[in-house]
Amino acid sequence: MRSASDAIRLAARVFIAAVCMIVPQSAKAADSADLRNTVVTPVLDAEIPPGKNLIYCAAFQPAWEELRQNLKASLPEAPTAVRALDRSLVGKPDLPEDACVALGGLAGDLPDKIRAGVRKKFGAAAPPLDDLATTLAAYALLQKTVQFPQEFALHDKPLNFSAGAVQFPAAAFGFAPDTGGDLLREKLRAQVGLVDSNPETGQFVVRLQSRSPDDEIILARITPEKSLLQTIEAVSVRIAKGQPAPLAAGDTLAIPQIGLDIRHVFTEISRYVGTLTGRPGLAVQQIHFTLGEKSIAVKSETQILAAAAPRRLVFDQPFLLWLRKTGSRYPYLAIWVGHPEILRAAGGPPKAAPQKPAAPTPSTKPTQSTPAPPAKPGLDGKALVEARCADCHALSKVYSAKYNSAEWTATVKRMVSKGAKLNAAERKAVVDYLSSR
Ligand code: HEC
Repeated sequence: MRSASDAIRLAARVFIAAVCMIVPQSAKAADSADLRNTVVTPVLDAEIPPGKNLIYCAAFQPAWEELRQNLKASLPEAPTAVRALDRSLVGKPDLPEDACVALGGLAGDLPDKIRAGVRKKFGAAAPPLDDLATTLAAYALLQKTVQFPQEFALHDKPLNFSAGAVQFPAAAFGFAPDTGGDLLREKLRAQVGLVDSNPETGQFVVRLQSRSPDDEIILARITPEKSLLQTIEAVSVRIAKGQPAPLAAGDTLAIPQIGLDIRHVFTEISRYVGTLTGRPGLAVQQIHFTLGEKSIAVKSETQILAAAAPRRLVFDQPFLLWLRKTGSRYPYLAIWVGHPEILRAAGGPPKAAPQKPAAPTPSTKPTQSTPAPPAKPGLDGKALVEARCADCHALSKVYSAKYNSAEWTATVKRMVSKGAKLNAAERKAVVDYLSSR
């Protein structure tokens, strides 16, 4: 499968297929749930959703591999998204070496490891880890700017981008027969190669030259295949077979500008990390991408985290206690608590403990920690919050928010759009409980 692996090598570089619709420039730091027509995939072998954008950045894969290496346990049955990651054809060798770091490890030293790794590679400070205290985590950052030798011209008139029934006046760059002087036009033409074109179908593939010889930039206005991977392979075949032609005076190039800032939580993978660690997991990728007249820039950050288990420091077995003068070797008071006779009974006034600590109800047993309250039957808002809202973040995130009923309705709706599993009645119970706290 020479052509497939070549295709993937290309894809791991900056590769844009014009089958993707553009995201209006107003899209700013959007949560992926808010970009309804944009899907983020951690693997190339994903179906292209008709009439939508599909975004892939290989920076998820190395973070996942780091995590895998740090997981020693035998793994339970993985969901589809995880199996797809595990058999992904793209690996670290496909990533631009100067532009990517991937690190994984255990909580204790990971933040320092990440800071050091990012500084070494990019000379810049690492962004903060998400606010989960982590026991197990992986991190990857891919950052690359590829500049055009000569800055393209901005078109005065918008480019009318149409995808199916959708029309959009996009800001565009490139050149036209009336751009600048002869010399400028010639320079601009020289940095564009028409790799393949079919005047009958109106399909064409263009390669843009950049200042970075290790990165290939391809734009292909074509009909997509079923999946992104198949589409990339089809374009690779066109490139291999096509008759490259230089552009001529009078030719026009117009490429819409893209501005994308998206944060995507991979719900299925988050849950799987949760099952592996027994703690809420979070797998999230933040992708910043721009395509403009000067350059293409991508910054993509992946974090895979599992919340640290809250520690239970319960002295429910014999223990030692001492009081010691600082600097002394021996304490002036030491007690080994090996029998409950000196403990004070719960629930009653202080008194000499009974010979046999008769415990009429479990709650008066001082040697036992309080059991977790059982989930009540029916629609218990509190139980629902505890069961459904801690998959992706700590419950403290929920409890620290002080909202009224309308605000909770909106927030819970947003959480459902992110993947929280609640039906209408459960949503209401959760909102009622949270707004009555
Ligand atoms: C599928 C993952 C997921 C689940 C399940 C989930 N959340 Fe969230 N939640 C997020 C993410 C991601 C953020 C941060 C981004 C944001 O605020 O939109 C967040 C942020 C929040 C915030 C802080 C932001 C704000 O608007 O105040 C609150 C509060 C919150 N969630 C409440 C809940 C509640 C209540 C539930 C259960 C009904 C829940 N979450 C379940 C993913 C989830």
